[in-house]
Amino acid sequence: MSAAKRTLLVTSALPYANGPIHLGHLVEYIQTDIWVRFQKMRGHECHYVCADDAHGSAIMLRAEAEGIEPQTLIDRVYEEHTRDFAQFHVAFDNFYTTHSDENRHFSELIFQRLDAAGHIARRTIKQLYDPERGMFLPDRYVKGTCPVCGEEDQYGDNCEKCGSTYASTELINPVSTVSGATPVEKDSDQLFFKLNDFRDFLANWIDSEQHVQPVIANKLKELFEDELFQWDISRNAPYFGFEIPGEKDKFFYVWLDAPIGYMASFKNLCDRENLSFDQFFAQDSEAELHHFIGKDIARFHTLFWPAKLHGAGFRTPTAVHCHGFLMVNGQKMSKSRGTFIMAETYAKHLNPEYLRYYFAAKLDDGIDDIDLNLEDFQARVNSDLVGKLVNIASRCAGFISKQFDGKLSDTLPEPKMLDDFVQAMESIAGHYESRRFSKAMREIMTLADQANQYIDSAEPWVLIKNADRKHEVQGICSLGINMFRVLMTMLKPVLPATASKSEIFLNIDPLTWEAARAPLLDHKINKFKPLLTRIEDTQTENMIEDSKQAVADLTPAKSLSGPLADDPIAEIATFEDFAKLDFRVVRIVKAEHVEGADKLLQLTLDLGGETRSVFAGIKSAYTPDQLEGRLTVMVANLAPRKMRFGVSEGMVFAAGPGGKEIFILNPDDGAQPGMRVK
Ligand code: MSP
Ligand code: ZN
Repeated sequence: MSAAKRTLLVTSALPYANGPIHLGHLVEYIQTDIWVRFQKMRGHECHYVCADDAHGSAIMLRAEAEGIEPQTLIDRVYEEHTRDFAQFHVAFDNFYTTHSDENRHFSELIFQRLDAAGHIARRTIKQLYDPERGMFLPDRYVKGTCPVCGEEDQYGDNCEKCGSTYASTELINPVSTVSGATPVEKDSDQLFFKLNDFRDFLANWIDSEQHVQPVIANKLKELFEDELFQWDISRNAPYFGFEIPGEKDKFFYVWLDAPIGYMASFKNLCDRENLSFDQFFAQDSEAELHHFIGKDIARFHTLFWPAKLHGAGFRTPTAVHCHGFLMVNGQKMSKSRGTFIMAETYAKHLNPEYLRYYFAAKLDDGIDDIDLNLEDFQARVNSDLVGKLVNIASRCAGFISKQFDGKLSDTLPEPKMLDDFVQAMESIAGHYESRRFSKAMREIMTLADQANQYIDSAEPWVLIKNADRKHEVQGICSLGINMFRVLMTMLKPVLPATASKSEIFLNIDPLTWEAARAPLLDHKINKFKPLLTRIEDTQTENMIEDSKQAVADLTPAKSLSGPLADDPIAEIATFEDFAKLDFRVVRIVKAEHVEGADKLLQLTLDLGGETRSVFAGIKSAYTPDQLEGRLTVMVANLAPRKMRFGVSEGMVFAAGPGGKEIFILNPDDGAQPGMRVK
């Protein structure tokens, strides 16, 4: 083993509990999982924790839209997320939730320590308030015209057209997207974290390449040119989150407690597995703490988070590793193009390990976006995994099983070849360690090419037919299988399921870097079963089609289907508009077919003294005898209308889209013809 045993705590960002895991998220969870599996295979003590990010306005409003409690929503999403992660072999040691006792404890503790040390300021500011919904509006829930360039329909924090940032109170003609109301400005007492107190500490902290990638550090430094801002960490009720101790109707902003969720999830693991929490979080901790995140949330992790930890007397992260965003076919993921692909939809059509491999082949230590080109994906998986890797085992295994009773030879014909493979393992390990996965995959596939070339030139299928040389086949195929074993060891962080199938096939203990150093000789292997199959064209096409449907189903059910969706409620009418119309109870005394009309019935209506003749388009749903004698409701003061078959003197009420689905209204028992309906 190269280095001394290390102790690591690793995290991925906490996914919001209001939506499904999609392939964009998976870039991060797969990247982290590969790194963690690699550390564990190297024999280090490594813990991988995550949680659902369960707080905030988005979750509160999403639950409201579905007509359920936030707790019900986050419980359901928790099930979905754990299912998706398991399917993609993302193996957290603990997946928890930020809505937990542990997280409340640490959030309060950190806040109280910061407050006691004077790092919390209290100020009254003006905020936009939705008078209809009765809540202060988060920036994302206000839209209006950009105060800088005049572009309409921009969010309350920044303009997508000109890129300016501003306060939501500066928007021109603001509208609340929660209710449609015009927000009003209202005073609000807020609590702020005084980031400026940590100016020197942070300047030093981000300066170390070990902590953050230089590209990220440079962007952060721009923020230092101004006086570092104070960060608003409070939100007004109604809010789904933790109440701030000692305050009334104030909650911690979701981003205050979210990173603390890393600690809370780990604390929960410590309690379960008898680990020492302090060993990892005390100020003088020697354990490593690594966060994997997307570049969009860098400032929360590289400024606010280290400052909070430092200010509250905890250790700070060893490193924050940022990655870029996922593109599909060169463009942003798009719901209409079917490239907004959910983990669940992908897994219905394709093997999750293919995606793990493809991402690994694309990922490095930088923050460039990575592109999932579906044609390239198919070609790459088919050629690398099926054509190269699995091929080595499948072409050698048959000979060993059938001709040599499943037994590998006790010496290898070209031990130097295998030595080279074993030598390469250290350089591959270096690439994993520094997150240059694409480099690791390239070098592994070059070795796979060499293994295949060796088998091609040794031609075991020719030798086997030659009685004098048949015995050589055992050595050639044993070398092939040994090369496969080393390759599989190096790919195990990426392809854990294929690796465990390979362990069964090879009849060995779990593959590790250490174990792969000595060759497998004079050893009985099991019968080979296909490890991976080719991707067919239709699989990716079907996934895209399915994705279009799947995202359509995502919108809360309430607003999706039913009469309101097909026929939205009309514009507001004033009471005066309403009062103009005179509705009356009537009895249908006669109902008749109309010569030459295929939709209409002619109704004779008794208004209690007066009769009216009305033509109603209800023939598709009623026969005359179903109607005669019934009470219903009519508009009695509608101007008479001349129709082809005569004059219609009013309208009767009926609901429904048409055809068989027309339903006339019935007043309750006791109503009399002529009574006014109001
Ligand atoms: N809840 C916050 C993180 C809190 S961490 C204390 C959040 N959640 S998220 O669900 O929006 O994103 C979770 C992670 O997935 C983030 O690191 C984010 O950058 C990453 N990704 C989300 N969409 C992504 C792509 N399309 N591509 C790559 N990564 C993406 O942010
Ligand atoms: Zn603008």
